[in-house]
Amino acid sequence: MCGIFAYLNYCVPRTRKEIFETLVKGLQRLEYRGYDSAGIAVDGDKNTMTDDINNNIVLIKKKGKVKALNEELYKKDCMDLEAELDTHFGMAHTRWATHGEPSALNSHPHRSDKNNEFVVIHNGIITNYKELKKYLNSKGYEFESETDTEVIPKLIKYVYDNREREDLSFSTLVERVIQQLEGAFALMFKSRYFPGEAVATRRGSPLLIGVRSKDELPTEHIPIQYNTAMFKEGVKEKNSHNRSDNSTAVNSVGDSKAVEYYFASDASAIIEHTNKVIYLEDDDIAAVVGGKLSLHRLNRLAGEDPVRAIQTLQMELQEIMKGNFEAFMQKEIFEQPESVFNTMRGRICFDTNKVILGGLKDHLKEIKRCRRLIMIGCGTSFHAAVATRQILEELTELPVMVELASDFLDRNTPVFRDDVCFYISQSGETADTLMALRYCKEKGALTVGITNTVGSSISRDTDCGVHINAGPEIGVASTKAYTSQFAALIMFGLMMSEDRISLQARRLEIINGLRILPELIKKVLTLDKKIKSIADELYEQKSLLVMGRGFNYATCLEGALKIKEITYMHSEGILAGELKHGPLALIDKHMPVIMIMMRDACYTKCQNALQQVTARSGRPIILCCQDDPEVSKNAYKTIELPQTVDCLQGILSVIPLQLLSFHLAVLRGYDVDCPRNLAKSVTVE
Ligand code: UD1
Ligand code: M6R
Repeated sequence: MCGIFAYLNYCVPRTRKEIFETLVKGLQRLEYRGYDSAGIAVDGDKNTMTDDINNNIVLIKKKGKVKALNEELYKKDCMDLEAELDTHFGMAHTRWATHGEPSALNSHPHRSDKNNEFVVIHNGIITNYKELKKYLNSKGYEFESETDTEVIPKLIKYVYDNREREDLSFSTLVERVIQQLEGAFALMFKSRYFPGEAVATRRGSPLLIGVRSKDELPTEHIPIQYNTAMFKEGVKEKNSHNRSDNSTAVNSVGDSKAVEYYFASDASAIIEHTNKVIYLEDDDIAAVVGGKLSLHRLNRLAGEDPVRAIQTLQMELQEIMKGNFEAFMQKEIFEQPESVFNTMRGRICFDTNKVILGGLKDHLKEIKRCRRLIMIGCGTSFHAAVATRQILEELTELPVMVELASDFLDRNTPVFRDDVCFYISQSGETADTLMALRYCKEKGALTVGITNTVGSSISRDTDCGVHINAGPEIGVASTKAYTSQFAALIMFGLMMSEDRISLQARRLEIINGLRILPELIKKVLTLDKKIKSIADELYEQKSLLVMGRGFNYATCLEGALKIKEITYMHSEGILAGELKHGPLALIDKHMPVIMIMMRDACYTKCQNALQQVTARSGRPIILCCQDDPEVSKNAYKTIELPQTVDCLQGILSVIPLQLLSFHLAVLRGYDVDCPRNLAKSVTVE
């Protein structure tokens, strides 16, 4: 997602060029997370004649790669690159667009006003930004971007402008701002009123601070307030944060002489400068004033300041970037509880059972009047259409066609003005899907995008749509985008059926299912070890069949695609109803078969398929519900999954196959993230 990096040098002279280099390098370390634009805030040269405050802040922002931003920095001939700055605070950001398209204007840092009195960088989402914006607009504050973030610098200026005679510190201003914010954030603030000072805070998004003294400050030289209880807590938490045992509890740091601080959303940007870090916790406010770092809690009681452990990171850079994971694909599989939650965030109200997809609400009437829905995509995105077709037919009571973009075009499929065509695409740039979009536009159909990439061609060229907000997907094999596309399409069905009395019970069942889905995904992920042991048995096989039907047929197609894509084994997703029409001939005791048999309307029919397989000496590995003796007694092995609503089960049943393909590829010695012959974004026909 977005990346934060900031650098404060206190009594450590650095030229502006060195500062630029540090900031750019920090951003480059965060590049692996994916982004579409970047920006920095630094102090300008002192001396503007018209300016009463001599601390003007310069913002440089650019759409595209960090490389493009870097080139831009050196074009600013108004800034003296060789100027030596004894004390300076600079901050930098890479943005993955969620609010507003990727552009220099929408990228961070965001500012309070034209004079850059306060500037802010932000990771996360401010869910009440519309209300705050309305309020600030009514007070005369003008906005220049489409982002949620911009309310933050405006709000801090508002608090500052209305401080009356109070002498507020920078951290108190920030405290007053975050009291008003809802959502998730990691934030860094810089202000021309507080030169050389930095304030950092977080809620829900990670942020850590690296500390380095001029002479590589040993921990025992840092003024420390020991607190045994907190010390223990710090150590206990380390396992989840790649920390070493080597931690020391503090609530203030810095001997006020020569010290440097590095702030980042991710340890990968800090590790090359220092391995001494403090992880902020929710509602911590960290401020550097006069070279001294102190920590406060939001709404703290008198005397109740936090004590946080200074951790010693003992990890290699490469390890940190992928966390504890061996590959981005694995990391992305494990991100699914969060990415599916982010797809639903702010869109489903579980108290009122309302679903609002902001991007579709103005087109809903038109969609309801259409004569059919056509869902178009390629590869995994096509499978998301297959996975949700049945429930969309049920909830919309419309005919739903699912189409592979290339075939749809080859057939010159008839499309009419009263059709609604969906384009499902993680990247939003897939050539076949884009061409199908252009084709349908010419025919006058309403076009709807389901994309993960704000500002992508499909996102821009469709009449309306839904951003699935799964965060950047780096592994070529699509995983978290699939489950988020799936969830987004289900939400579309729920929105369409809101006023259908006969469908209320069904809707409620699905909404309740979605509410606990992230928890159930977490449970499925705990099966990883078991799945690895199955991979140990299978990895030398040539072929792997995956069978199922009904709501789980798409899982078979998607599982088989994952397997062939990254393990180079032959794999086929087979509709169990088709077994005796051909594929049964493949079954013998040597052919590995995975079957999906969940307790749904197809359960009995799947049992028939199971019998046909076991009667040919097949030894199926069965994905099934917990405690199913009927299945267990006929299975060679079972993978037991938590049960959810039938139409959501596919989100859970695909995960073991994602994990299996990952382990098979590792065991076979292949590059999981970059399979041969494939690209993340297929921009050619
Ligand atoms: C918007 C914010 C989202 C925030 C939410 C709640 C943006 C981009 N999104 O989401 O981050 O959580 O408000 O306040 O600011 N669109 C297309 N084609 C596509 C995808 C989207 O035309 O393929 C259009 C939509 O019709 C809409 C706009 O892009 O006009 C934003 O879409 P989306 O992000 O899904 O809208 P919200 O859910 O309202
Ligand atoms: O970016 P898109 O979703 O449009 O990409 C479509 C396919 O190329 C993509 O899903 C592909 O099948 C994946 N690599 C499969 O893991």
